[in-house]
Amino acid sequence: MYYRGMTNPDRKILILFAHPSLDRSEVNAELLRAASAVEGISIVDLYGEYPTYQIDIDREQQRLLEHDVVIFMFPLYWYSTPAILKEWQDLVLEYGFAYGADGTALNGKTLLCAITAGGPEEAYRAEGFNHFTLRELLRPIEQTAILCGMRFLAPFALFGSRTAVDGGRVGNHVAEWVNLLEALRDDRVDLAAAQDLSKLNAAGDESTGDKA
Ligand SMILES: Cc1cc2nc3c(=O)[nH]c(=O)nc-3n(C[C@H](O)[C@H](O)[C@H](O)COP(=O)(O)O)c2cc1C
Repeated sequence: MYYRGMTNPDRKILILFAHPSLDRSEVNAELLRAASAVEGISIVDLYGEYPTYQIDIDREQQRLLEHDVVIFMFPLYWYSTPAILKEWQDLVLEYGFAYGADGTALNGKTLLCAITAGGPEEAYRAEGFNHFTLRELLRPIEQTAILCGMRFLAPFALFGSRTAVDGGRVGNHVAEWVNLLEALRDDRVDLAAAQDLSKLNAAGDESTGDKA
């Protein structure tokens, strides 16, 4: 268990949400609705705010400065993020801001990904259909976080997302998501422990939810 007692309340959480067709989303729409109801969480709908990909770099950098924990929230597309989240990284994480000798703006902050994946969890391993674990597939983002002096946590992930509604697995996942957001906000997450897991949640998929 990686939750602990509160030490430093009021950590500021920023969710950068990227889903190109939110109107057709089954699970991310639910997760987004639940996150909006949690007090003290900032949410940016990237496709909603930048439908033509004209990302306002100054505004996005200011948002980063004002928050302690950044969450990339997205459906897994081709083992990666939807395009706008890559565009956001390319433009916002500038030299001299996010990295480089004077680029210390993000030092000490935390980054994690909240992901839904169509494939089942057992497909995401060396012997499985997708050959790599989700953590392995996230390595470019993990190394980006490291370069920026950020702590990278294990992902909060729902596997088998396309059958999650019919399988009755969304409710538990949403409950764990709300718990996680509240714990991050209240500084009740043991960040060092949360760094080393394969994923942050136990429920939400059709397999065992093993942590290692
Ligand atoms: C363009 C595209 C690429 C996708 N690539 C993957 C993938 O690489 N791995 C995977 O497990 N699911 C993949 N999926 C399935 C999505 O992850 C799945 O539709 C999504 O998690 C469902 O969430 P939603 O109900 O919020 O839309 C892909 C879906 C689309 C449309």
